[in-house]
Amino acid sequence: MKNFILFGPPGAGKGTQSEQLIAKYHLIHLSTGDILRAERKEGTPLGQKANEYISKGELVPDEVVIEMVANKINENLDAIGFIFDGFPRTVTQGNALDDMLNKLGHPITKMLALEVDEDELTKRLLLRGETSGRADDQEEATIRNRFKVYNDETLPLKEFYRVQGKYNGVNGMNSIETVFGELCALLD
Ligand code: C5P
Ligand code: MG
Repeated sequence: MKNFILFGPPGAGKGTQSEQLIAKYHLIHLSTGDILRAERKEGTPLGQKANEYISKGELVPDEVVIEMVANKINENLDAIGFIFDGFPRTVTQGNALDDMLNKLGHPITKMLALEVDEDELTKRLLLRGETSGRADDQEEATIRNRFKVYNDETLPLKEFYRVQGKYNGVNGMNSIETVFGELCALLD
């Protein structure tokens, strides 16, 4: 099992690149945002609780997402590997993920970090909001709060994986094809 984190701020292209990567490498795409939105769509208690956070651009509490990820990993123990998209979001989540994967004997291989500046991210999110129906991509105040949460809570994970020798930065301002090529070079 080979496990990768596709890291980056909202709008960096994690979902887009994940789709292409799983098609090529047959990894499992574990997107916590997608799972939370699916739960919300089904109106489950978890989905209803998550919606309070998602609509404000806040993070769902660590223990909730950690349990979700643990379940998904345990349901797919025969997988070739996972691409974690949108998780971990906090250092607490990073430690929990390391614990889970170390117990399985399959720690994170690499963190692939997409680097995109905030002006470009804002443009992309507002454009996506026109078609995705995602309310959190339509309100500029919510988008700004998502960047703030990212900078305060999520960005420290770069250092967390850098000290483990696992951090790899990729310029996410480039075209989808160029970024995909660089990610493949890191995965091969
Ligand atoms: O990862 P994505 O950008 O799709 O996440 C959308 C929203 O889902 C986040 O802004 C946040 O409210 C919630 N989320 C979370 N914790 C995660 C992943 C997503 O709270 N690990
Ligand atoms: Mg996404």
